[in-house]
Amino acid sequence: MAANTGFGILGAGLISPLHARAIHDAEGADLIAVCDMDLERARKLAEPYGARVYDSLEAMLADPAIGVVCVVTPNHLHCEAVVACARAGKHVLCEKPPAMSLAETDRMIQTCRENGVKLGCFVQCRVRGAIQAMKQAIGEGRFGRLLSADAYMKWYRSVDYYKSDAWRQSRKSGAGVTVQQAFHYIDLLTYLAGPVARVEAWMRNIAHPEIAVEDTTIAHLEFASGAMGLVQASSALWPGTDVRVELNGENGTTIMSGEKMVTWRFREEKPEDGAMRQLGSESQATAAGGAADLGHLDHQVVIQDMVDALREEREVIIPLTTVRHTLEIVLGMYQSAARRRPVELPVADDDSIWAWPESVSA
Ligand SMILES: NC(=O)c1ccc[n+]([C@@H]2O[C@H](COP(=O)([O-])OP(=O)(O)OC[C@H]3O[C@@H](n4cnc5c(N)ncnc54)[C@H](O)[C@@H]3O)[C@@H](O)[C@H]2O)c1
Repeated sequence: MAANTGFGILGAGLISPLHARAIHDAEGADLIAVCDMDLERARKLAEPYGARVYDSLEAMLADPAIGVVCVVTPNHLHCEAVVACARAGKHVLCEKPPAMSLAETDRMIQTCRENGVKLGCFVQCRVRGAIQAMKQAIGEGRFGRLLSADAYMKWYRSVDYYKSDAWRQSRKSGAGVTVQQAFHYIDLLTYLAGPVARVEAWMRNIAHPEIAVEDTTIAHLEFASGAMGLVQASSALWPGTDVRVELNGENGTTIMSGEKMVTWRFREEKPEDGAMRQLGSESQATAAGGAADLGHLDHQVVIQDMVDALREEREVIIPLTTVRHTLEIVLGMYQSAARRRPVELPVADDDSIWAWPESVSA
């Protein structure tokens, strides 16, 4: 029997317990070590799993038992960590967003390619049953021409959440609701409806005056296919309600709320449609009120897939290359809000978008 794959977690913060649990519950995966510059945090996470602790990535990368590293550090620190992992010959699963610029994202992709290691990304909402069903229906042509693809994320994050760490108060580190929370659902829209050609976005801070980041975004997307889309994303709307992802085509409409399929209607009904309407569970928490509420099962699918991909010598289910366009859309949204006009994609990096409130004022 093949040996288990050893995992290391870099970053033992808010979301890391979910990674540890997902690795523990995956078949053929062992949590070998946890690394955090705050050793106490690393210990707390590692102890229940009997994992080793490190306070530097360099030291963890020297551990030969580790084959895969989950990069769970703040958004602006992903690139350096992924590059170091790749150079040490470790495969990587990186948290979203991949990085805060396209240049960094390309460097991560290139370094992993040069070193022959796999690079996956935790945009784990893609694996939800309701999303996979929508993807399949698109592939089968059941929608006909896709007309509209929308995401509504009316969430809540407290001032305490934003104040819990310096990076959560800096747009350049990726604290704004657009790149931090809404990233998942913008990713789902492009995953389902294809590439985006043009964006127009408006960003405001409507309920967190203590913090200099946008807590609310409204954006209009034009897909290359001609479909239209809306994104409404907020972390200001207490207590937070389930995200809705809606697809409308000539011949069908589907809606996911949270992770549950709440509408599945096609002009031509098929025998399996009854089962599609049952997909997803209402009880599964989806982080509307706080990241700590998130379930670990979607992460577990991504981790299990990495173990299987290594055994089967194939690509992972969510290569980070497939998430680059999502970052490009998000950066396009920031550019549009800053310049107060629509932006055509592709875009180039533009560091001036991170200023606040100069670039995005009421
Ligand atoms: N996929 C999801 O659904 C989801 C949900 C929440 C957060 N995230 C992502 O997970 C990542 C982490 O988010 P979080 O909320 O847990 O952040 P956090 O700030 O709570 O935790 C980050 C940890 O990384 C540690 N760290 C930072 N630099 C380090 C270094 N150089 N070496 C070792 N340790 C270092 C910090 O000490 C901290 O403990 C972010 O990219 C975030 O966007 C993803």
